[in-house]
Amino acid sequence: MNQNQVTEREMLDQRQFAARVREKINDRAARLGRPLRAHIDTFGCQQNENDSEKLMGELTEMGFIPWDTRDGADFLILNTCAVREHAEQRVYGNLGALKKIKEKNPSVLIGLCGCMAQQPHIAQTIAEKYKHVDILFGPQALYRFPSLVWQRLDSGKNVVDILDEPGRIAEGIPQVRAQNFSAYVTIMSGCNNFCSYCIVPYVRGRERSRETEPILAEIRQLIDAGCREITLLGQNVNSYGKDLENGDDFAGLLRKINALDGDFRIKFMTSHPKDISKELLDTMASCEKICKHLHLPVQSGSNRVLEAMNRRYTREKYLETIAYARSVMPEITLTSDLIVGFPGETEEDFEETLSLVKEVRYEMLFSFLYSRRKGTPAYDRKDQIPYDVKLERFNRLLALQAEISAVQNEKLRGRVFRVLVTGTDEKQRDYLASRTESNKLVFFRGDPSLTGQIVPVRITEPKTWFLYAEREEEK
Ligand code: SAH
Ligand code: SF4
Ligand code: F3S
Repeated sequence: MNQNQVTEREMLDQRQFAARVREKINDRAARLGRPLRAHIDTFGCQQNENDSEKLMGELTEMGFIPWDTRDGADFLILNTCAVREHAEQRVYGNLGALKKIKEKNPSVLIGLCGCMAQQPHIAQTIAEKYKHVDILFGPQALYRFPSLVWQRLDSGKNVVDILDEPGRIAEGIPQVRAQNFSAYVTIMSGCNNFCSYCIVPYVRGRERSRETEPILAEIRQLIDAGCREITLLGQNVNSYGKDLENGDDFAGLLRKINALDGDFRIKFMTSHPKDISKELLDTMASCEKICKHLHLPVQSGSNRVLEAMNRRYTREKYLETIAYARSVMPEITLTSDLIVGFPGETEEDFEETLSLVKEVRYEMLFSFLYSRRKGTPAYDRKDQIPYDVKLERFNRLLALQAEISAVQNEKLRGRVFRVLVTGTDEKQRDYLASRTESNKLVFFRGDPSLTGQIVPVRITEPKTWFLYAEREEEK
């Protein structure tokens, strides 16, 4: 078996802890005359969302039922993110609100987990100042959550588990999915890249891949249950399999998933430009179930900044990759992440970013103000960029992308796309919301019973950030 894997024995132990918790909370449930309820707030990326689905799976196994609101919940969990300061500040705000809930009802359990929790300086602050947090644990401890809950109930004392470990793969954690028609499947965890601004490698441990077979089994099960969209997750999916003995690489895995029977589409994220191969792009082009969409974070258009970020590719190499992708998939859509105001970024560097954005013409950009993360190399740099300079550059980038998105979207007028219907739109109740292969938001009038189906629509009214459409007859 894979050395990086949590053993079956350890996983079985967790199932036993879950059973013991279930027994223990039974009394309380009987007294209340209802099952105990659990609510999770997720602050991070798709991986964090998938982790929350696993937490809810474990909670269900322990006898809790999923509960939509904080109000009335018996177990409240914050699954946190550490990627930018703003994400952490939001969590502190929420911790204040949870304190009030606990003061009113001391029997409510509070858990804090995720990437923010994994950092020692945060864990220390929480343990000292936020004593209403019953259980604090990091992403690597997710599989042993049942034992942590048991420990908390049995000892009556707060529990902390942020052991500094490279992390392992845990197969077979139960999952309660947020949606049944679209599902996240984590294929690998951790990151080895150590981009100089990024906290992820410090909180998520080293890169490790799941074996192919359990991934395929999980996907088969989802498809059999009617799932129409599978999104494969990893911090750097292009490194998939590098740590497996005789295993598949990412292109090989994609081909096997594509060969599974069923009417479904495949998405994946995130790709690192330094590891993306021609073979992968050829595989995307030849596999009919793979969405012709690539999220390829560039972070900066300046070679000087890219080097300081430790990204290990150049602007030229990145543009070459994109040119190749477009040559084998003329219809491919591209999106990216960009960081504005990395330490030492000059006006000239930033202009190179603008020129790259103009050259690539992304469908959509996720731009971020650089945020100093304690423990990362860039944190200590003396040449931090003042906030107002960062903001001014950010706004220029946003304006440029708005212009590009509007033009790109206008080109889609009258064209037909197959969209996955995600439900009635919350703001415009007479419209359905849906997503194209490239994740564009499309609204059209239709029967809510279409939710979870992939249907063709014709674009009637493109806007800058979304599109209006009408239902097209199936051919
Ligand atoms: N593994 C993925 C995603 C990592 S986090 C990747 O490499 O692309 C998602 C995005 O957050 C990154 O792409 C980056 O644009 C942004 N990000 C990460 N650290 C940041 C920081 N310190 N400040 C601002 N943005 C950051
Ligand atoms: Fe962070 Fe870089 Fe790893 Fe992405 S590849 S998670 S940006 S260190
Ligand atoms: Fe994701 Fe945030 Fe962690 S982006 S990996 S939840 S730091």
